Amino acid sequence: MVKAIEIKNLKKTYQKGKANEVDALKCINLNINKGEFIAITGPSGCGKSTLLHSIGCLDGFDEGLYYLNGEDVHSLTNKQLAKIRNKTIGFVLQEHGLLADRLCWENVAIPLQISERNKKTIEGKSKAILMKFGLDEIMNKPPSQISVGQKQRVSIARALACDPDIILCDEPTGSLDSKNAMKIIETLKELNKLGKTIIIVTHNPNIAKECERVLILDEGRFVT
Ligand SMILES: Nc1ncnc2c1ncn2[C@@H]1O[C@H](COP(=O)(O)OP(=O)(O)O)[C@@H](O)[C@H]1O
Ligand SMILES: [Mg+2]
Repeated sequence: MVKAIEIKNLKKTYQKGKANEVDALKCINLNINKGEFIAITGPSGCGKSTLLHSIGCLDGFDEGLYYLNGEDVHSLTNKQLAKIRNKTIGFVLQEHGLLADRLCWENVAIPLQISERNKKTIEGKSKAILMKFGLDEIMNKPPSQISVGQKQRVSIARALACDPDIILCDEPTGSLDSKNAMKIIETLKELNKLGKTIIIVTHNPNIAKECERVLILDEGRFVT
């Protein structure tokens, strides 16, 4: 079966050739099957976000091979990469990143607007996703009027708007108390049961232990 993610000898250096050069990823090998639920942990600065950004095609890398759903990422055009970022991968960050001047459903609508023109369709889809998350009551509110836990759930709804197969979460519970953090994990677990591949970067051992597989990164390499 085609793997969701297959990475061989991936390397990434920031500020290459300068005095402040950093080898953020040294030699990453990673195979992830479709439908896996994986945690990546490791000390601050070990390369977790850099790796997640490379996996999410938000950033390139300097050396190595990366096959996403069997496709060689290196060979893709910018247009194809943009489509992957919109349709194949959903990204959830520590800070929800919701736009303050839009209602919650309008925030969820943003990724849908790239491929859909009909305003009613976009509104219907956005609200349906929020309802699935039990967020009916807040969909017509601006982010300033909802709790931090709700904001993070709206940001997950936004990441899922275009129904991606792969969900990448960079410390998604880092700003939440333990009760809200667990709610996020329950939401991610349900999505995983529906077949989504999930990778979550976390410092929190309670969250890591909820995942099927835990990978530890240290100074740009996986610790075995
Ligand atoms: N844009 C950048 N320019 C230069 N160095 C960076 C940049 N982003 C990250 N780094 C460095 O790369 C290393 C890995 O960073 P990062 O992936 O953010 O780690 P983590 O998410 O595990 O805390 C760190 O040493 C960090 O300082
Ligand atoms: Mg980070």
